[in-house]
Amino acid sequence: MARIDIERLTVEYELAERRQRLVALWNIDLRIADGEFVVMVGPSGCGKTTLINAIAGLVAPAEGRILVDDRPVGAPGPDRALVFQEYALLPWRTTWGNIRFGVEMQRDLTVSDDEIQQVIDLVGLRGFERSYPHELSGGMRQRVGLARALIARPKVLLMDEPFAALDAMTREVMQGELEGIIAATRRTVFFITHSIDEAIALGDRIVVATARPGRIKEIIEVDLPRPRREYDVKSHPGFARLRERVWTLLRDEAVVHAHQAHADGAA
Ligand SMILES: Nc1ncnc2c1ncn2[C@@H]1O[C@H](COP(=O)(O)OP(=O)(O)OP(=O)(O)O)[C@@H](O)[C@H]1O
Ligand SMILES: [Mg+2]
Repeated sequence: MARIDIERLTVEYELAERRQRLVALWNIDLRIADGEFVVMVGPSGCGKTTLINAIAGLVAPAEGRILVDDRPVGAPGPDRALVFQEYALLPWRTTWGNIRFGVEMQRDLTVSDDEIQQVIDLVGLRGFERSYPHELSGGMRQRVGLARALIARPKVLLMDEPFAALDAMTREVMQGELEGIIAATRRTVFFITHSIDEAIALGDRIVVATARPGRIKEIIEVDLPRPRREYDVKSHPGFARLRERVWTLLRDEAVVHAHQAHADGAA
């Protein structure tokens, strides 16, 4: 497990052809505790992926810094693993080969065949070790992506809309399984989604971001008991209240954003 401290983080992109800067994230302060599951929601383009890339060390801050266990993030490292929406599997490699690739990507990492088998069992893919990605369903491909991330034993899992491409049923199954896997492997997780229900089903806290430039609008504690996969979260009395709260914040943000866009257009 690991603690993440995001301190006064601002991220900008250079728009080369227009010689402009685009402020993607503005003055983000966020502390994620050891073993905590934090979910971020926010309007499209508010900088969520940018924040994940910054934690991963793929994007450098313009201001502020990010610490993982008190060490400033400079470059990507084996302590942080990414899981994306579009799996990013190698089509010419089997399940086993794709997970092995997660090992090959890291220098100085040795993993036994037993450990690969353990992670395959953990994500429920036993029997599909020799299957190629095109022979797997979307949910199964996402399990391979998750296994590939877990095999390097990262302290932090960074998940960018990992279940967005799945059908509703598979998505709920995967949410339950992810909760179980995280409980078993004790990781710190930063998870992005557009689904309020998913945020409530998974998160210890939900960070609601403003429209671009992304700032933290509010942080909401999800006070629903765990394991949530063992009961119907949506029928818990606390669920509707949380849903309403997050929904109102996001809707207000969308309305403010629309007014701004209108004003910009009129100027
Ligand atoms: N490499 C880049 N170069 C220039 N601008 C970028 C780059 N990546 C992202 N941006 C801009 O930064 C802003 C934030 O983008 P980002 O992808 O982080 O948003 P997001 O919250 O993940 O959106 P979505 O919910 O649609 O995935 C957007 O305005 C986007 O155009
Ligand atoms: Mg994104």
